[in-house]
Amino acid sequence: MSILTKTKIITKKEELQALTTNLKKEHKVIGFVPTMGYLHEGHRALLKEARANNEIVILSIFVNPLQFGPTEDLDSYPRDFDRDLLVACEEQVDYLFYPTVEEMYPDTPSVTVKVHTRTNVLCGSSRPGHFDGVATVLTKLFHLVQPNHAYFGQKDAQQVAVVHGLIEDFHFPIKLIAVNTVREEDGLAKSSRNVRLSQEERKEAGILYQSLAAAREELIKGNNQLDDLIAHLKDKVEKESSGIVDYLEILTYPALEKINQPSGKVIVAIAVQFKKARLIDNIIFDLSM
Ligand code: PAF
Repeated sequence: MSILTKTKIITKKEELQALTTNLKKEHKVIGFVPTMGYLHEGHRALLKEARANNEIVILSIFVNPLQFGPTEDLDSYPRDFDRDLLVACEEQVDYLFYPTVEEMYPDTPSVTVKVHTRTNVLCGSSRPGHFDGVATVLTKLFHLVQPNHAYFGQKDAQQVAVVHGLIEDFHFPIKLIAVNTVREEDGLAKSSRNVRLSQEERKEAGILYQSLAAAREELIKGNNQLDDLIAHLKDKVEKESSGIVDYLEILTYPALEKINQPSGKVIVAIAVQFKKARLIDNIIFDLSM
């Protein structure tokens, strides 16, 4: 029988900051996994990585209203705190920060963070303000948690790129660790939003990864007709599923710039809107290898 760690829940920011200030005085190495909850295998991978490489592991669960647009799924975003707590205990998390919206934003914020680069492509172009909300909440969380290492899933590659910029520009003494995407057997990236797919949509959703893999194969073969390739793959996704392609882009990584002649590190990224879930995925590979 495995012995579950008793994860301590903290809901108040003052309590968290006092705790981490003491931990820093003791020179403890802190690993931080920020999430919006409804934890799945992808989050477990981040927690395992954090557990393996830090003395203290802190998980946060906070569905951040600032990163949702007015027509987005804030109210229906899936939540299951009891299950999340069990996952936290199983993954030997030491502290779980679980604040209310009022705790994090007692008033309309007087200062927010504006992200100026890497936001006019991929999710940024269809979710104006999204990464400003992410950068704002992470700035607050980084000050409270004071981690040595912060863990993010590579599935959200644009978020990883933006957080790199945040950490560098604001001089946070934090090392960002990007952890590989965890996939289902058919390649579908694990995500909290997958539960919103109907049975039929779930069967179709493997097409996201298949189209990314097909793009990678073509690029490695030397295909440089990117517009044609993108159009062909979009068409295939929409023919073979009920989803609508929001974007399918091939860009440099991590700068996320348009490509004329594919070379070096490249990201192929896709977002598909199903009835109740918008799924994203990407693969990153190096054409110079
Ligand atoms: O990736 C997420 O779940 C969120 O964007 C994050 C990083 C927890 C910020 O709210």
